[in-house]
Amino acid sequence: MSADNMANWRTGIAEVVSTETEEEVLIRGRKLSELIGSLSFAEMMFLLLTGREPTKPQARVLDALLVASIEHGIAPPSMIARCYASYGTSIQAAMAGGIMAFGDTMGGAGEQLAKMLSEAAAGLDVDPSDDALRQLAADIVGRGGRIPGYGIPLHGADPRSPKMLSVAREEGCFGTHCRLAELIEQEIERTTGKSIPLNLDGVGAVVILDLGFPWQLTRMFLITPRSVSFAAHYYEEQQQGTKWRHLAADDITYES
Ligand SMILES: CC(C)(COP(=O)(O)OP(=O)(O)OC[C@H]1O[C@@H](n2cnc3c(N)ncnc32)[C@H](O)[C@@H]1OP(=O)(O)O)[C@@H](O)C(=O)NCCC(=O)NCCS
Repeated sequence: MSADNMANWRTGIAEVVSTETEEEVLIRGRKLSELIGSLSFAEMMFLLLTGREPTKPQARVLDALLVASIEHGIAPPSMIARCYASYGTSIQAAMAGGIMAFGDTMGGAGEQLAKMLSEAAAGLDVDPSDDALRQLAADIVGRGGRIPGYGIPLHGADPRSPKMLSVAREEGCFGTHCRLAELIEQEIERTTGKSIPLNLDGVGAVVILDLGFPWQLTRMFLITPRSVSFAAHYYEEQQQGTKWRHLAADDITYES
């Protein structure tokens, strides 16, 4: 039977157990009935994704990132969720609509930074010197172009980034990628003369890399907490009773 046949699935993530003597769900080999009430959501995410329970410091850093990422006001993704409420769609459609708005230019730039830095750091020694990191930061900025994960139109400097880096530092989870992020920020300022600070996408990227996650998961760490925000915006909009959010006709320019 070929490996991609629909009747052939393999997983190390979970196993549903239903026998005469036991009803259980095993997640990464651990009994869900024992994890319920003993692991936090952040710890459970870590276990599910990696197969390992995080240390307490790692769990605190991941939890802090989930908190940092949960809400950012009325912005394009939450506007979409609110519009869905206004049009009478379901809560899951509104949440999915908000999630799908995240892309390369808005909300998704962390993935580009995480890929870039994990590839760049792969060529470094296990415990690189600050000089080696400074050189790498100069090389990255020297390639030109906008560095994903830096700059944010809604703030002078994103208040979430320094706080996240300080939690990572306090907990001993501030590693090569977090340091590189700081050095890139300094290098951008040195070469452009402008302060273009690390944004939430960027700090999320380096924090999850230093926690040991692969770059491919980066966006999930923003989308998961933000989906709660979409539900909150959906519900609030519903309570406000709007029925058909739309533009006035004269806001639209018709081109012939
Ligand atoms: C987010 C972003 C669009 C905000 O833009 P903005 O605050 O309106 O800033 P501007 O687009 O006016 O850029 C101002 C200057 O800073 C530079 N700049 C802005 N972001 C930069 C970055 N990430 N790296 C290097 N230079 C950057 C621009 O080149 C520009 O210089 P110029 O006027 O000489 O061309 C922009 O910073 C960016 O493209 N960032 C990278 C992508 C990203 O992280 N997006 C997530 C946003 S939530």
